[in-house]
Amino acid sequence: MKQNADGTPSRSLRNVDALPLLGGMIAYLRDPLGFLIRTRKRDGDVATFRLLDRKFLFVSDPALIEQVLVKQSARFSKDWFARDLKRVLGEGLLTSEGDFWKRQRRLMSPAFHRERLAEYAAVMVERTERALAEWSVGEERDIHHDFMELTLDIVARTLFSADVEGVGAVIGPALDAVLDWYSNPILVSNPWLMSTPLPAARRHREAIAAMRGIIDGIIRQRRATPDPDNHDLLAMLLAAQDEDGERMTDAQVRDEVLTLFLAGHETTALTLSWTTLLLCQHPEVTKRLREEADAVASGRPLAYGDVPKLVYAEAVVQESMRLHPPAWAIGREALEDFELGGRRYPKGLAIFLSPWSVHRDERWFSEPDRFHPDRWLDGLAKRLHKFQYFPFGGGPRICIGNAFAMMESVLLLSTFARRFEVTLAPSARIAARPAITLRPAHGVRVVLRAAPKSDHDPAHDPAPTTP
Ligand code: HEM
Repeated sequence: MKQNADGTPSRSLRNVDALPLLGGMIAYLRDPLGFLIRTRKRDGDVATFRLLDRKFLFVSDPALIEQVLVKQSARFSKDWFARDLKRVLGEGLLTSEGDFWKRQRRLMSPAFHRERLAEYAAVMVERTERALAEWSVGEERDIHHDFMELTLDIVARTLFSADVEGVGAVIGPALDAVLDWYSNPILVSNPWLMSTPLPAARRHREAIAAMRGIIDGIIRQRRATPDPDNHDLLAMLLAAQDEDGERMTDAQVRDEVLTLFLAGHETTALTLSWTTLLLCQHPEVTKRLREEADAVASGRPLAYGDVPKLVYAEAVVQESMRLHPPAWAIGREALEDFELGGRRYPKGLAIFLSPWSVHRDERWFSEPDRFHPDRWLDGLAKRLHKFQYFPFGGGPRICIGNAFAMMESVLLLSTFARRFEVTLAPSARIAARPAITLRPAHGVRVVLRAAPKSDHDPAHDPAPTTP
């Protein structure tokens, strides 16, 4: 149904207005993931729903998703949530818009080029080996918590190399406080609560101030005593220049550093946590991962050059992110009237895209709820439409850290499988909690066992046991 000649909304939007105010809201709050799949199946590839005063166009057709994220991307901005996140991330890459964003993206891109990834890979493996050496077998542990610590450590070290001591201790809890605020739908929908004396608001404000304080201190110190041999991410950001020779101000560098911390650590930890849960349910996958890693790097730690050979590990990560995409929802807002699938829609409309729902669509994936890494081994990724599988988004705002994250997930997972086998702990409760990211509601409680010694890996150390 087209927009009316007098400019009044098309029928699809009047349908949204007619939706019961609370009915959709309650169904959504009770089970957002189920709500999305039911809505797609019932209402089709372009559906509408309403949450309180916001109307959403829920788009599930890959070709139309491509229209929003790529072909007509200039007609859409990020959504209200990204605007609110500016209170934390300022004008960082995740939240900025327009020409400013374009310039920042150009300045940041070299930090994620291939040559840089090789250096980050060494940090990733070294920090992982070190962390795993501390994980005892036989005891119950929340491995999601462990992966959060490990990926934070890796982001901190790739960003700050030498200056890292003490940073994690401040940034970790502060990021938790910030993410907690954004995980509460009531707080997120009422940004004005932020300036009230509510304890959650106070914690959130203090967390932002603490993170900015520590990062500002490191930037000041670096500017004062630059080290030409330092090639960490921060050094790249401080040195980056655009065509006019202009550099980022200290405040811009700080916003980008905070953005990389926020965008770059929980998402990767979630990928690893959901993958570990799948390993508990499919022990044969752990065995194949171990055999592959030991065959590729017999008797030595994995390295950057091994990554292209870890094809099964890559398939496991791809399949895990298909079933549990950490970015389960991607939002946009129309900057002007637009047309999609032959219908016209007005400026201001919110667009809701969901990798979760698309990745579980039986039209694109056979047995969509089954964990089956082998489906990726015969070139599936090349045959799929770009937006039948899009854990990293797409178009100009595609995740800048996608190669970093894939490499990190493959290296960490393979290193983990060489050392451990894993089973779910008796106390484990598994449920997905879709906050900003798709989290395990109760962590992922597991028990580790030492992996059997592999024929390929004579030098492999046995894992420590609990005393
Ligand atoms: C498995 C891990 C990750 C997933 C699933 C993921 C997912 C995403 C997605 C879906 C977007 C696009 C959001 C949108 O279009 O609105 C995005 C953007 C972004 N991601 Fe990631 N990400 C991951 C890891 C990382 C890492 C490791 C870094 C950095 C070290 C990073 C930094 C960013 C940044 C800076 C943006 C904003 C890019 C821009 O707008 O230009 N991400 N990510």
